[in-house]
Amino acid sequence: MAGLVADYDSGDHLQGPARVSRMNPFHLYLDSADLSEIRSCLPHPVVHGVTTNPTLLKRAGVTRAALPGLLTQLLKLGAKQVQAQVQAADVDGMLADAEALLKPFDSGQLVVKIPATRAGFQAGAQLIARGVPVTYTAVYAAEQAHFAAQLGAAYAAPYLGRLDDSGVDGLGLIAQMQSLVAGSATRLLVASIRSREAYLALLGLGVGSITIPPRLFAELLDHEATLAAERGFLADANFGAAGDSKL
Ligand code: G3P
Repeated sequence: MAGLVADYDSGDHLQGPARVSRMNPFHLYLDSADLSEIRSCLPHPVVHGVTTNPTLLKRAGVTRAALPGLLTQLLKLGAKQVQAQVQAADVDGMLADAEALLKPFDSGQLVVKIPATRAGFQAGAQLIARGVPVTYTAVYAAEQAHFAAQLGAAYAAPYLGRLDDSGVDGLGLIAQMQSLVAGSATRLLVASIRSREAYLALLGLGVGSITIPPRLFAELLDHEATLAAERGFLADANFGAAGDSKL
């Protein structure tokens, strides 16, 4: 696969979390189309990129016409990759929309998101054959993750929170998906993350990528005890400023 996604190491020799190796680093995404919200997190070296979808765009008041501008700004803010979803349900419509989305960007910068439907797998396969990174999204069943890996997708995106909402054991199903994509070029990109505990449980499964809402970013990065310790260190660092050093 071309460009930024060429760093894949199968990690066949590794188990569990160790599969996300130095050569195949974990990808943390922000799941948002709200520029001010994203600006509160980026640039930051732990973030690989930003994922969007039509619902997030609507929520943020970003029209389809304004989407390329938003994605361009996200890249300028330090996102290595941005993800945008096709807005059609048939193969030709998906491919035409993917072309339009890809046009302003360099190879590998834009990941095309396509729902994991029968038509979606067809359209995505054509893009993957041309070296375009593809995320199959709205993955609700293990076999969809299997097909994504079979076709060489960059990512397959299950929704943890929504799986749990529907009464399914989301973490259990995602563990099964992870075992199906392990050793392939496909990372699970787990979305619908609502808590720090969910994030940590997914890391424990060894998933290759997670996309989180920006509000969770602060919870993961700004630990209250660390901030309190830092305040103490900074206060103590002023000791001796008046020149009363013992040495
Ligand atoms: O991007 C889709 C997903 O992250 C939505 O999350 O919490 O609304 O199910 P949630």
